[in-house]
Amino acid sequence: MVRGHTCGETISPVPHYFDTDPLAPSHPREVVLRLPEATVRLHSDAGVFARGAVDSGTMFLLRRAPSPPLDGDILDLGTGYGPIAVTLGLRSPQARVWAVDINHRALELTARNAARAGVDNVVAATPDEVPGSVRFAAIYSNPPVRIGLALLHPLLTAWLDRLHPGAVAHLVVHRHLGSDSLARWLAAQGFGVERVASHDGYRILSVHPRPVVGDDR
Ligand SMILES: C[S@@+](CC[C@H](N)C(=O)[O-])C[C@H]1O[C@@H](n2cnc3c(N)ncnc32)[C@H](O)[C@@H]1O
Repeated sequence: MVRGHTCGETISPVPHYFDTDPLAPSHPREVVLRLPEATVRLHSDAGVFARGAVDSGTMFLLRRAPSPPLDGDILDLGTGYGPIAVTLGLRSPQARVWAVDINHRALELTARNAARAGVDNVVAATPDEVPGSVRFAAIYSNPPVRIGLALLHPLLTAWLDRLHPGAVAHLVVHRHLGSDSLARWLAAQGFGVERVASHDGYRILSVHPRPVVGDDR
């Protein structure tokens, strides 16, 4: 998908990292993901998010968010070239990590990066490829805020409503990209929201499932 600006008679496509099939010619790069426990080399490419270096918000999430559950299904919503998914796969080798994106180039990179890191429990998938029956033991995400709130809000609620009761989602969002208003909006939808860490304008929001209507437990 390429969105376009119209300017008189001409249409100039505006590329985004969240295009499904980036038009930018492939221009692979290697980026280094330095975790406390390991250093992992990942491939990025033109047309994917943060191709030049692992994003600072992503690094903050990986350093400060609570450890992932040891097993079950874990979601990286908007995986890009996979820094979060690969880390989750390394940290929880018994879990199944769903690395979900709409950008096909990003998904190919994630699958290759997981294999290159020796991680065999990451499933790179489009949203439609995740069976509807799957429920998540945790979600970790640097979400695609730039798609706009009209798309972001339903995207988040759809996936957050697939958390197991008692499971938690950890989202990193910068203050300048609306982290505080997003926290308020999620709380207004009935989710439990805590800001668990904050640094350089980045917030990690921990989001707890909203009560299921008609569930008297
Ligand atoms: C801010 S980037 C984060 C990428 C990666 N997790 C990282 O930390 O480098 C958000 C990602 O969400 C993806 N995305 C956009 N819309 C999406 C959707 N509807 N469903 C899943 N992923 C989406 C984008 O393609 C992009 O790769």
